[in-house]
Amino acid sequence: MTTRSLPVLAPPRRFGQTARTDAWWVQPAVTFTILASFVGYATWAAFQNAHYTFGPYLSPFYSPELFGDSPHAWFGPKPGWWPALLPFSPALLILPFPGLFRFTCYYYRGAYYKAFWADPVSCAVGEPRKSYWGERWLPLVLQNAHRFFLYVALIFILLLAWDAIKATQFEDGFGIGVGTLVLTANVVLLSGYTLGCHSLRHLVGGRKDQLSKHPVQSKCYEGCSKLNRNHMKWAWASLVSVAFSDLYVRMCAMGIWTDWRIF
Ligand code: FES
Repeated sequence: MTTRSLPVLAPPRRFGQTARTDAWWVQPAVTFTILASFVGYATWAAFQNAHYTFGPYLSPFYSPELFGDSPHAWFGPKPGWWPALLPFSPALLILPFPGLFRFTCYYYRGAYYKAFWADPVSCAVGEPRKSYWGERWLPLVLQNAHRFFLYVALIFILLLAWDAIKATQFEDGFGIGVGTLVLTANVVLLSGYTLGCHSLRHLVGGRKDQLSKHPVQSKCYEGCSKLNRNHMKWAWASLVSVAFSDLYVRMCAMGIWTDWRIF
């Protein structure tokens, strides 16, 4: 009888130890920088409660404006029941929903687990901990709520599309300014990101055994799959565009930038 020896398993790597010779650290470092900058800017902007509208434009960080001082507010100014000790800003009422949609996104989870928690910092690179932090227990099991945040995100797309339409209604009538284009591009990029969501893809066709027997769902599934193939690109492009849209409206409202009217 022949005997074979099993291959010797390599000992666990130390944190950061790897045989890789490429610049594996660049991607998590860039991810960390962009996401940390975005979270920092969005938090600062949300607490400002000022300079979030300019003419027919409304910053996407403040839309929908449920309560507030601008003409875009649905239910009037800050309500009397708002606790005096809590800072008030229309953005604080709505930003958690798109924020949690992005936070629980399957793509972003992979990106920020590497960039922020080093879990692992990159493929085939040693981790700082030996235990497995799966998504089976609290708090990470809550990441599975992603599909519910998707439903809200789809409503937000409709609201932002309505804002883009309203951004053509100037005091002197219909027009298109640079701000109109900025807000419209933002809706397009956010739609590309949201409609390519893994959960939506499953929802529209992933549950069917024979998708070909359902032509409408089959077409929706195809479209969703096309966007899903570039989900990472849509994720980054829409992240930048939503922050830039707020910055654009803010700069115009503060009189630092001029909003050029195209016609
Ligand atoms: Fe990224 Fe749903 S998986 S938005």
